Amino acid sequence: MLFEQIRSGGCLSYLIGCDETCGAMIVDPHLEQLDRYIALASERGMRIHYIAETHTHADHFSAARELGKQLKAPVVMHRLSAAPFADVRVDDGETLIVGKLRVRVMHTPGHTEDSTCLVFDDRVLTGDTLLIGGTGRTDLPTGDPDMLYDSLFGKLLRLPENLRIYPSHDYKDRNSSTIGAELASNPRLQKTKREDFVALMKGLDIKMPDHLTEALRTNRTGGKTVAQLLAEAARQVAFVQMDEVASRLGNSDFMLLDVREKDAFDAGHLPGAKHLPRGQLELRVDKELPDPTARILTYCQFGRISTLAAATLRTMGYSRAVALDGGYDAWVKAGYPTETR
Ligand SMILES: [Fe+2]
Repeated sequence: MLFEQIRSGGCLSYLIGCDETCGAMIVDPHLEQLDRYIALASERGMRIHYIAETHTHADHFSAARELGKQLKAPVVMHRLSAAPFADVRVDDGETLIVGKLRVRVMHTPGHTEDSTCLVFDDRVLTGDTLLIGGTGRTDLPTGDPDMLYDSLFGKLLRLPENLRIYPSHDYKDRNSSTIGAELASNPRLQKTKREDFVALMKGLDIKMPDHLTEALRTNRTGGKTVAQLLAEAARQVAFVQMDEVASRLGNSDFMLLDVREKDAFDAGHLPGAKHLPRGQLELRVDKELPDPTARILTYCQFGRISTLAAATLRTMGYSRAVALDGGYDAWVKAGYPTETR
């Protein structure tokens, strides 16, 4: 059995494969590591049969949909998952077959209603149901401490004590534990009475995850993250560094295009820049930029909107549109010249 744990900050994901048949699955992939999974699978000589999510994540951006598309592998999620892009919906007690491997799905709601654990012969991926020295929180959408109690004490913790557990999160650089070790020393599992456990979970005062809204929006719908949109736009254009632009001021063949709002432009801009706010770009472009062969260099305050604008211009036929590597903010900080209206 091939078993690789991939860490991205406190998030853990897995590549699990069958050595004999070279079939594998990826569990809980993280968007930031998208290229890594693809590279790892080919380096290990594995063909991915499934992309599985132990639950709908609220704290990180899932790569499941994108990986599923790129690797032509179905996305597996629990029947109750909101994600419309789940290809194979599974339920408690069902088994996925990957080569010679058998993976049993255990529905363990509580952290979320669609939480599952994936049980192998000698180990179990516990998602956010059971962590090393902790459990998943129950205060996020569809969380329920009563259900978590049932899932833990009624199901997961009844598995053999020597089974290794591999969670979806660990913030202290630990890789795994066992059911027995957690039963013995996990502080939350010492609350074996339902009332005590539920009271403990309800009393936890944990800060909301960063990007909660964006994570739920994208993970539940398959929509793109802001970083994804920017990365896709960045791949469509080339950039020009600030020192290069500065050295060409005055005798440049670039048309500098400021795509910020009017107030920002009026307060100060690059010498000789033309103003066309990004929000009006598509509708005014033919009037303002009649020459599609012009070498247009977009810039904005921080270098993100200008990337989107340059990509839009390329899509519209301005095949030489480029974006400033940086923004007005960095330009001013670097001491390069500006002008005001
Ligand atoms: Fe989670």
